[in-house]
Amino acid sequence: TLPRVFVTRQIPPEGLKILRDSGQVNFELWDSDDVPVPRKELLEKVRGVDALLCVLTEKVDAELLEAAGPKLKVVSTMSVGFDHLSLEELKRRGIRVGYTPDVLTDAVAELTVALLLTTSRRLIEATHEAKTGGWGTWRTLWLCGHELANSTVGILGLGRIGVAIAERLAPFKVKKFIYADVAPRPELAASINAEYVSLDELAERSDFLAACCALTPETKEICNRRLFSKMKNTSIFINTSRGGVVNQEDLYEALATGQIAGAGLDVTVPEPLPTTHPLFTLKNCVILPHIASASYTTRNAMSALAANNLLLGLQGEPMIRELKL
Ligand code: GLV
Ligand code: GLV
Repeated sequence: TLPRVFVTRQIPPEGLKILRDSGQVNFELWDSDDVPVPRKELLEKVRGVDALLCVLTEKVDAELLEAAGPKLKVVSTMSVGFDHLSLEELKRRGIRVGYTPDVLTDAVAELTVALLLTTSRRLIEATHEAKTGGWGTWRTLWLCGHELANSTVGILGLGRIGVAIAERLAPFKVKKFIYADVAPRPELAASINAEYVSLDELAERSDFLAACCALTPETKEICNRRLFSKMKNTSIFINTSRGGVVNQEDLYEALATGQIAGAGLDVTVPEPLPTTHPLFTLKNCVILPHIASASYTTRNAMSALAANNLLLGLQGEPMIRELKL
């Protein structure tokens, strides 16, 4: 009998086709796009499966792994982020983990640049004014923002995505790239001529500060009052990583008091962010519903990669992209 697989969401067609055409697995799909599988049902669905293909809304923790039982060998997530996975629990059980870096780098970098410009040039406020009668006349300082030309861009967590963002920003005549990380990344930094600095220096010098790091115990709420208080009041904060790297109360305070000029967030805690959240009341805060990788090409590529990782893992082969546990 074929290995059993549970797929926790209706994923883009390419991945499903790969699973189906492989003839190697018997898969069951939570056949919804807009409703995540309820936890209770998930715990029932995973019982006895050999592999799990999940998305970032599913917490893969000890409880879930217990519910799945000892046959579970492979967890393949259709995401580059892995903060929803309890890596220690997976490692302890010898479960292999696939994820989907690289294929989403271009889409995430593009969206980050779009969000940065939207925030710095106040595009959401501007369209709102145009639509609602605020456009009385052309005015000299009305809706002024901050420009990238001659600016210093700071990257918190220099990985593939940070480099891709810098490559796209360089033609906007950025003067200097700086980055902070747990250790210098000379090879990555060289390609964008970025200088390694401390977290404090990153905050102090950046005109645009983009969080591009994974959410780990070390980066949890690393963007907090301390960091925002060191930033210039003309600076813009951008987050396309995970909401958990930010202390949102501190960010609200920094934005509301003018400690920093603006923030563009693709990720929040929780997701969705309740529509009544104070951050939504701020004109200088642009909030997107976690869409950085949301291009057709990329989501299909992520789906295909997640499916291929899963099949390779079940065959005992190296995955195309496997997390080192
Ligand atoms: C999206 O946030 C991802 O982790 O792929
Ligand atoms: C703006 O439209 C200008 O002419 O300066």
